[in-house]
Amino acid sequence: MSAIPVITVDGPSGSGKGVISQWLAQKLGWHLLDSGALYRLLALAAEKHSLSLSDIVRLVELAQKLDIQFDTQSAEGVITFLAGEDVSLALRTEECARNASQVAAIPEVRTALLERQRAFRQVPGLVADGRDMGTVVFPDAELKIFLTASAAERARRRHKQLNQKGISANLAALSEEIRARDERDQNRAVSPLKPAANAIILDTTHMGIDAVCQAAYTKVQELKLLTA
Ligand code: C5P
Repeated sequence: MSAIPVITVDGPSGSGKGVISQWLAQKLGWHLLDSGALYRLLALAAEKHSLSLSDIVRLVELAQKLDIQFDTQSAEGVITFLAGEDVSLALRTEECARNASQVAAIPEVRTALLERQRAFRQVPGLVADGRDMGTVVFPDAELKIFLTASAAERARRRHKQLNQKGISANLAALSEEIRARDERDQNRAVSPLKPAANAIILDTTHMGIDAVCQAAYTKVQELKLLTA
C-alpha cells in the first residue's frame, strides 16, 4: 500500500466526474489524473497513424510510447498535447469519445496504460477520474466516489459542455451516443464501469455542481485525508 493518498471519482459520461475531480484536486492542491483523456489520446493517435481500431498489436505499441503532456497551469483549463501538438479541442469531440470507448474495451490496451496511470500517484496526493479508478487502477484508494445521474440529465450536461467549447451537437444524437457508450463501458469483459464495493455513490441528477463538490469535500474532511 502506498503512503500517497488517492481519491477516485468514477461514473458514466456526464455524471460530473471531470468538474468535481478538477475542483477537488485544486482545493486540496493534489495532482489530477483524467484517465479518459489517455484513452481519447490513444484513439486520436491511432487516427493520426491511420491505424485500425481493431489492430491490437499496433494499438498496444502506440499506447506504450504515447507522447503526451498536460499543461495544468493555463487559465483556459487543462491543455493537452499529443506529440507536441495541442489537441485539447479534438479530444473532446463525440467521435473521439466513441473511438476511445472502443480502444478502452481491449484488455491489452488497458494493461499497457495501467502503469502510466499509476505513475500519477505523487505527493501530496492524487484525484483520479475515470471508470475503473476505484476498482482496478487504485483499489487501495482512501476515498472512492461513484457519481451517477439520469441519462437525460447527463446528455443535457454534455450538450451544454460541448456548446461551451464551441463544438456543435444535436441533443437527440448525443443522448444516443452516450447510451451506446455507457452500454459498451458497462458490459465490456475487462474493467467494466461499476462502483467499487466500498465506493460512496452520489446521484447528482438533482444536485448542482457546488453541492456535489461540497458533499465530496465533507467526505475528505471526515476521513482526515488532508492530515494523513
Ligand atoms: O471520461 P471520458 O468520457 O473522457 O472517457 C472516454 C472513454 O474512455 C469512456 O467512454 C471509456 O470507454 C474510456 N475510459 C475507460 N476507463 C477509464 C476512463 C475512460 O474505459 N478509466
